[in-house]
Formats: sequence, structure tokens, C-alpha cells
Amino acid sequence: MAGTVGSWAIDDTEEIGSGGFGSVLKARHLQSGEVAAAKHIIHEHMRLAAIQHEAGLMKRCEHPHVVRLYEYLQLEKESYLFMELAEGGELFSRVLDDGNLDEGVARSYFAQLMDAVDYLHGQGIAHRDLKLENVLLSSSNECKICDFGLAHLYKDLKREPLYEVCGSKSYAAPEILASRGYDGYSVDVWSCGIVRSPRSATLLAMKRPHSPLLARPQPGSSWLRGAPFTRGSLVRRPLGSAYSRCWRASFRSTAPRRATGGSSGSARR
Ligand SMILES: Nc1ncnc2c1ncn2[C@@H]1O[C@H](COP(=O)(O)OP(=O)(O)OP(=O)(O)O)[C@@H](O)[C@H]1O
Ligand SMILES: [Mg+2]
Repeated sequence: MAGTVGSWAIDDTEEIGSGGFGSVLKARHLQSGEVAAAKHIIHEHMRLAAIQHEAGLMKRCEHPHVVRLYEYLQLEKESYLFMELAEGGELFSRVLDDGNLDEGVARSYFAQLMDAVDYLHGQGIAHRDLKLENVLLSSSNECKICDFGLAHLYKDLKREPLYEVCGSKSYAAPEILASRGYDGYSVDVWSCGIVRSPRSATLLAMKRPHSPLLARPQPGSSWLRGAPFTRGSLVRRPLGSAYSRCWRASFRSTAPRRATGGSSGSARR
């Protein structure tokens, strides 16, 4: 144990995540014994206002498929976000390790993701960094969206266009990169599409060419035809229309080609 911070004992022997901000460690509440994930952010690495923004948005959320914030602790040079611990790790790793997901499991994951994103949008929050790495799994194998570092809160019903180019390039809707203003909810829908689309698999192929996912190429599917994730944000279908569709079908499509010579056309942007 590294010691205590507020009411929490932090275990620094095992890092469960890391990033430019610092690291994510396991913690235990001194009184209740509850385990948590402690996101340790060093102020030198991230603006205090941004940390407070992230914590503030998480605090607003109460949904079974959104990581819960238990406590935010701000010290002089560092801050801690004590969160619900998602023991199953990232969906990203799950997909890499297991390859094609079982049909029922994949459907269930995607429905949970849609549920959570629908909830966030209902709260006025556009996540803006939805990707396999930011969807975690609980010990009971339920999806939990994390990482509100880039999220935007719409203050009123009028959704003013956003201009900040942010998120992960591979998951970013084309209108973000076009720099002409975009709608935060609509770009989340695009990213959900990438999470379950063949392009995810293509991206995985570039990162881990030996993933079992790539060893089992499947015939094409019609998932993308008429899917809600069309290029133009104005014609992109609303979130709800994704519920009835099958996530896994995407992985049967063109993506699981071996990535021998760099990226495929669809992954480049
Ligand atoms: N509540 C949690 N439970 C379990 N693991 C977590 C939790 N929160 C974060 N992690 C792990 O830590 C990783 C990084 O956390 P997070 O996504 O919040 O930071 P980040 O902002 O993406 O960092 P970066 O600066 O790299 O973008 C996650 O992808 C995940 O693997
Ligand atoms: Mg992240």
C-alpha cells in the first residue's frame, strides 16, 4: 500500500490504467472496505479546471452502465477521482483476447452502451471520446463507460455547435475533423458505430496483428447498409434505431483481414 489519501487506502503495487494524466490504481475505503479505482491526476499534467470538469460531469451521472464517481479529492499538486472499479478491464482487451464475441454477449454489450449514451445525452452530456478503451467491464460482465476528460456539457437546450477537435482520430466523426462545427451527440453516435463496426477490427488489426479476432475472417454482412452511422451528421439516425441491431455482425464483415500492409482504406482518416 502506498498509504492513505483521505478516507482511502491506495494500492500502488498494481496499476490498472495509465495515461498522460497519471495512473489509475486500486483503492479501498478505510471504513466501509469498499474497493474502488483511484484515478490519480498530477496537476502539472492536466489543467485543474479540466480535472474539475471531468469530476463534475461524473458526479452528475447515476446509471448502471456509467462508471460511478464515489469521491473527488483535490490536493495541492494532485487530485484523485475515486470511482467504481470495473474489474473486468477494457472492452478493448476483451475483444482482442477473445476475438469474435458471442452473438448474445455482443448484442447485450451494445445495448448497454446505447443505454448509457442515451442516458448521457439526456443529461446534456456529449462524451466525445467513446471507444473500446473507454468502455469497461464490471466483475459481472456489464459495460461501464468511463473517461469524461473530453466530455461536453450542454448548458441549455440549444445545442450550440462545437469546434474543439478532440477524441481519438479513428473514432472521430468526419465533421469533427472538418472544423466547421459539429453536434456533440451526433459524433457520439458515430463513435458507437466505430466501436461495433468492421473498422474497429481493422484498427485492432493494426495494433495487434495476432489477435484471434483476425484469425477468423467471416463473410460480409449487410450491417453497414442503412446503419445509423452514416457519414453526414444531418442524416445520421438517432441513437434508438441502433437498439434492434446486432453488434457482432459487424465483426463478420470485411475487417478481419490480416493487416499485413498498413491500414485499410476505411481505417484511414
Ligand atoms: N473505474 C475504473 N475501473 C477500472 N479501470 C479503470 C477505471 N477507470 C479507468 N480505468 C483504466 O484506466 C485507463 C485510463 O483511464 P481513463 O480512460 O479515465 O484515462 P484517459 O483520460 O483515457 O487517459 P489518457 O490520458 O491516456 O487519454 C482506462 O482505459 C482503463 O483501462
Ligand atoms: Mg480513456
